[in-house]
Amino acid sequence: MEAGWKTIIEPFKIKSVEPLGFTTRGEREKALRDADYNLFSIPADKVLIDLLTDSGTSAMSAEQWAAIMRGDESYAGARSFYELERTVRDLTGLRYVMPVHQGRAAERVLFSVAGGKGKVVLSNSHFDTTRANVEASGAEAIDLPVPEALDFASPGDFKGDIDLRALEEKLRELGAARVSMIVMTLTNNSLGGQPVSMANLRATAEIAKHYRVPLFLDIARFAENAWFIKRREAGYATRPVREIVREIFSYADGCWMSAKKDAFVNIGGFLALNDEKWMNEARETLILGEGFTTYGGLAGRDLEAMSVGLREVLDEHYLEYRIRSIEYLGDGLRKAGVPIVEPPGGHAVYLDATRLLPHIKPEGYPAQALACELYLTAGVRSVEIGSLMFGRRAGEVFIPARMELVRLAIPRRVYTQSHVDFLIEVVADVAKRAKTIRPLRLVSASPRLAHFTAKLAPEVLA
Ligand code: F0G
Repeated sequence: MEAGWKTIIEPFKIKSVEPLGFTTRGEREKALRDADYNLFSIPADKVLIDLLTDSGTSAMSAEQWAAIMRGDESYAGARSFYELERTVRDLTGLRYVMPVHQGRAAERVLFSVAGGKGKVVLSNSHFDTTRANVEASGAEAIDLPVPEALDFASPGDFKGDIDLRALEEKLRELGAARVSMIVMTLTNNSLGGQPVSMANLRATAEIAKHYRVPLFLDIARFAENAWFIKRREAGYATRPVREIVREIFSYADGCWMSAKKDAFVNIGGFLALNDEKWMNEARETLILGEGFTTYGGLAGRDLEAMSVGLREVLDEHYLEYRIRSIEYLGDGLRKAGVPIVEPPGGHAVYLDATRLLPHIKPEGYPAQALACELYLTAGVRSVEIGSLMFGRRAGEVFIPARMELVRLAIPRRVYTQSHVDFLIEVVADVAKRAKTIRPLRLVSASPRLAHFTAKLAPEVLA
């Protein structure tokens, strides 16, 4: 359509709907107690607006549902696999394509091949499952975000970039032989859903080439990242997203995707790379735990829906709406005086609990306390990205995370503008009462990926 209109509309109409989970305050108090103050343990029908994640929560298109009927369920060599292989090769230019049931399966398979004791992985920031899979292989995961990524109040176009100087220093210090790969997460989910610039990616690729270290991309949200490049980076404004995406992949030796994000599917993912030896080893591991190499733990219909989603996400009307809708939420919260990670990310707005709840120390899990209050107030479910997710607990010693954030992740094509207006009202109300929010105490947690199963309780004040 011609440009120039102020209002950017949802570029779809709705064909199928489901009711929201309305509850009373009393029901929410009980649900939260029963869940031990862990929002992962709340039954979804007790949630009004579910912003726990944008992963696997998209509304699929009519084309995707139609593709589901075309799925070929053959055990080996299904037509649906070849269709996915073609789509991924087309998109990425990478040679070998392996479907997996979701992103972390690709990570487990990849790092069982490329990780191992003594190895190191360097990244702009590892997502939590990426870090856990690197570490489970015996390797070390090191994050090298640009310093401004941790200054949440400051604006910045590409706060997802990797610190190039720190990257070179690490490569020299460790010796390139120890570094099994550099991973760029597009967009940088752990630090605000911030994009990586093409210039930073290009420079990273040059460094990777110089030191002969493979460069891999974690592309859960590659299309959102490409849209930011189009909008913010000099020289890209008139380039079609498809071309921008092609340039992004021209720098990669491999990638993996949780297709549950930018490919709009409810389950699915893939690993794609050029190194034949790595792929052969990866296939052996895949068969051991996931399934045969042409379905990787998915049904044929899932592969079909993924192929369609990978093409749909490049639609610029969709991407414009998507990024604008997140900005709209950010604008509303900012106007209400709520401290957020600036600027709003591609898939979520992150509330900064450090600034909103200065009276709660990291030991009191301020971001988790805020997330619980949002749920109690109006049944809004979000996720903590703070010391519950990334803090370390070694015996009596507590090492806090570098941030205390609450992520409001927006599922794709699911909620409308009135939901977002309501959300702004709820968060503003909670922010006004921030001083009254009480700390939480950790009752129990497993050593790895603790936030999924941790139990907490309100701190009893002396
Ligand atoms: N990489 C990134 C950047 C992610 O955001 C995720 C998942 C994964 C890998 C793992 O993929 O869930 O399909 O196994 N992120 C979800 C989230 C869970 O809520 O941000 P998965």
